[in-house]
Amino acid sequence: MDSYHIIGGNRIFGSHKLTGAKNGVLPILAASLVTGDVCTIHNSPDLLDVNTMLAILKELGCKIQREKDAIVVDSSQLTQTYIPKVLGKEMRSSVFLLGPMLTRCGVVEMSQPGGCAIGARPIDLHLDALRKMGAEIKEEDGSLVCKSTGLKGTTIRLDFPSVGATENIMMAALSAEGETHIVHPAKEPEIEDLQNFLNACGSCVEGAGTGEIVISGKKPLHGTDYKVIPDRIEAGTFLAAAAATKGELLLENAAPAQMASTLAKFREMGCSLKIEQDKIYLKAPNRLKAIREIKTLPYPGFPTDMQSQFLTLMALADGQSKMTETIFENRFKHIDSLRDMGAIIEICGCSAKVTGVDQLQGCRVEAKDLRGGAAMVIAGLAASDETIVENICHIDRGYDKFEVALKNLGTKIERIQEDERK
Ligand code: UD1
Repeated sequence: MDSYHIIGGNRIFGSHKLTGAKNGVLPILAASLVTGDVCTIHNSPDLLDVNTMLAILKELGCKIQREKDAIVVDSSQLTQTYIPKVLGKEMRSSVFLLGPMLTRCGVVEMSQPGGCAIGARPIDLHLDALRKMGAEIKEEDGSLVCKSTGLKGTTIRLDFPSVGATENIMMAALSAEGETHIVHPAKEPEIEDLQNFLNACGSCVEGAGTGEIVISGKKPLHGTDYKVIPDRIEAGTFLAAAAATKGELLLENAAPAQMASTLAKFREMGCSLKIEQDKIYLKAPNRLKAIREIKTLPYPGFPTDMQSQFLTLMALADGQSKMTETIFENRFKHIDSLRDMGAIIEICGCSAKVTGVDQLQGCRVEAKDLRGGAAMVIAGLAASDETIVENICHIDRGYDKFEVALKNLGTKIERIQEDERK
């Protein structure tokens, strides 16, 4: 496994252009196979998870080309309905193939999806909805076989606004007879992005971002050219790195309107922000201020994907802060590593109480999951001496050339490849 070697104490200074959203491009790539045509997805990040999705699409028979930040998916000739276990287990987003494959082929076989181990992450909401629409689903020995001889539009009320389930239902509903209503859907910006992509392909989807999404099925679909929205979590991560290192950062190609809850927390911690339509400028204070409580919530609340990075900021802030995680039950795994670096954190159920320290000390730590790994990099950039973050394959799943961008911003970080360490 590769690792990052970081010499801390250098402030982030400069500008960074954001890539397209990981959580936007993954469902859109899956949805592209519904069209049976050529889709060109611009502003696509170069990430491990995206490569895994492309490998799955290739396995199913799609032809894929990459041209700079564009991915061209030609799904005219599907040859397979089976997603190999080794690929499906790589990431949770393989579950996004259920809806599109039911729509396109009426059948799909795959293993239960993998992904970051940040909680039990069942897919009951996905499967219940697809069953309600008329799919027949067999679950045996960790594998799933979904079949349908014709889905039917219906009303699906989600008990929890699951992002993935909302997206899967939207994609399955494309082939359903009549209207599908999703009540209490997820409202994340990536849902609206998927709606916009599907409509650019000829579908009729309305209501993303509101309390009800309506999909009119059986519209003729075609390929399209589409630009994915900027990555709001990448944006938040770089801003957090600037905040932790007393730095100054201008983000370009950003969508600040989709980051209101995160930006508000940077302000509360004492950062000055200037916002333009697609730019965010942050200047960190000399010492961050503690924050009474941050609670992760479905959008438009504070995103669970920014929880780990803000815990690092809280660890460095002046005073006591509290972080409450309400979305995933096992998302505090990086806290032990932060403690090894000198952070004072007490876990009480789903909350972490943090007493800020003046300085963290570099040491050898491990990335346990994607965002927790990014949080350890941020801690290392702010810490004294050297920090080694091991197991960075988790970080590679979600950040495009992370260390290159951080180095360009004036920090000292090197990727050490496993074979160089031997
Ligand atoms: C997506 C994001 C992920 C983000 C998460 C929450 C992608 C590729 N990933 O993940 O980065 O952290 O939203 O914003 O877009 N749940 C169930 N049953 C289900 C589905 C979900 O109980 O069938 C639970 C999960 O275990 C979790 C919560 O609902 O506790 C949120 O999950 P969900 O919104 O589905 O997240 P993902 O789509 O997996």
